[in-house]
Amino acid sequence: MNQRTSPDLFHSPSETAAPWWRTAVIYQVYPRSWADFDGDGVGDLPGITARLPYLADLGVDALWISPFYVSPMADAGYDVADYRDIDPIFGTLADADALLERAHGLGLKVIVDLVPNHTSRAHPWFQAALAAGPGSPERQRYIFRDGSGELGNEPPNNWESVFTGSAWTQAEVGTAERPGQWYLNLFDSGQPDLNWDHPQVREEFRSILRFWLDRGVDGFRVDVAHGLIKAEGLPDWDEPASQGPQAPPTCAAPMWDQDGVHAIYRDWRNVCDEYNPPASPEHDPNADRILVAEAWVEPLERVVRYVRPDEMHQAFNFHFLQTPWRAADLRSSITESLQLSDTVGAPTTWVLSNHDIARHATWLGLPTDLPRPRGLRAQDPQPDEALGLRRARAATTLMLALPGSAYLYQGEELGLPDHTTLPDEARQDPTWHRSGGTETGRDGCRIPMPWQGQAPAGGFNDTGRTWLPQPDSYPALAVDQQQGVDGSTLELYRRLLSMRQERAMSVGGFGWLPSDEDVLHALNVAPDGRRTAVIVNFSDSPVALPEGEVLLSSAELVQGALPSDSAAWLAVQNEA
Ligand code: NOJ
Repeated sequence: MNQRTSPDLFHSPSETAAPWWRTAVIYQVYPRSWADFDGDGVGDLPGITARLPYLADLGVDALWISPFYVSPMADAGYDVADYRDIDPIFGTLADADALLERAHGLGLKVIVDLVPNHTSRAHPWFQAALAAGPGSPERQRYIFRDGSGELGNEPPNNWESVFTGSAWTQAEVGTAERPGQWYLNLFDSGQPDLNWDHPQVREEFRSILRFWLDRGVDGFRVDVAHGLIKAEGLPDWDEPASQGPQAPPTCAAPMWDQDGVHAIYRDWRNVCDEYNPPASPEHDPNADRILVAEAWVEPLERVVRYVRPDEMHQAFNFHFLQTPWRAADLRSSITESLQLSDTVGAPTTWVLSNHDIARHATWLGLPTDLPRPRGLRAQDPQPDEALGLRRARAATTLMLALPGSAYLYQGEELGLPDHTTLPDEARQDPTWHRSGGTETGRDGCRIPMPWQGQAPAGGFNDTGRTWLPQPDSYPALAVDQQQGVDGSTLELYRRLLSMRQERAMSVGGFGWLPSDEDVLHALNVAPDGRRTAVIVNFSDSPVALPEGEVLLSSAELVQGALPSDSAAWLAVQNEA
């Protein structure tokens, strides 16, 4: 191993104290599956509140909670019927207030999910639009069009839903007197797309932002941030419309990443800034309210447009999340992410798992060239779970050495895999149902958390009920089986998080050191000059470690060498 420890830092250390969101580690809570206080089998807000000390102990800075609003649950809450109230399965507004207060008391920020591309079909606006009929002002708030074909009984264009099938649903059957009308739904038919050219839609969302900001939330994760504006005339599009894994470049698609979305985010940035004006002498960098873009956009140059200085604060780095387990690919993904974020002065974010895609402990146990699936079925080739976990621990050890902000998905700190043999009858994802079973869907990564190895439902609640069954592997991975256990994944995450903070790595500079082809070797240099090396071994045999004090490793060292599919951090002396 080359011992040179003075690389060119292509990303510089921060010079000034960074506002919280530039460095935060944010933990995603999927409320249906985190903790179930009332025992009905679905997680809830009181359950989250009761478990918040766990997050404070883990060492994260914030939590992002997937939607908890009133919803018929056509897409697990991403179909909102009332943006200003909580669905009874999750609790009440008073429960949300209690959650916010407890989180803030523990020093945790809270980011809520905002779903502006579509409402639920049950939303009063949409119900009014259906009742008022074609040509009515009520229909203008959505994207209704006359159908094609003689009586209008064919969809207005050829767009496909991300969840398979046509992106149009017929609102009424056409007759000789009047053509049938259709509404656009880029996702499920229970999720009609809003018309963002309508001033009432814009005004309503400003008001929703203020409603939650007034209650004390610290920011919003913006669902489908790249979808709000559609190209003029809704022209046909012959590529698959699907966003997400393996999607084609989006900038040409008429339903994605249209330039008009950016004005919306500038407007929202102003709303957020009202709560902590950046130009004021009283501006508190620890009190910024933030916007985070969920934008499945390619290439990365297009993603950073969402985080220009007057737009959103962060965008998820889905490019990194889809990078295969290969040194060269990860090296260029990381370099590109940091360099492109630097061009707009935004922090880079890092993410390895979320509720829309197979967990990284599962994906990394599949053959390396297999694209990342959303989920797996019993009849699919099954992952090597031990290999997946080993690589997942190494991947996280790499990720948390990178400067910027990082997202963790609930349960990844336990090394949880997906449920890859879920009975088909248990599946709930609309993708599975809409596709007639050709698309597995995302249920496998949404399984309720195991807290106690020996308790019913793994301590998810007291009753043993769970809205999705847990796999056999979960009890051994439960929180109480790992807490305080040397070498457990939970303790690895805890050490990574505390050392990342202690060594100021989130504001560090970053550069690569020379290494063998199937090894990554990089240096994170804190603003005070402290150097932390990260080394990842992708090869089949152990590699010697460079000089330095080993701070931690994702797997046990073999006679002082780093075994395959593992990673380590080392404290490195400053060069004389
Ligand atoms: C992205 C969310 O993460 C996903 O779960 C949801 O199905 C779609 N947006 C539609 O809201």
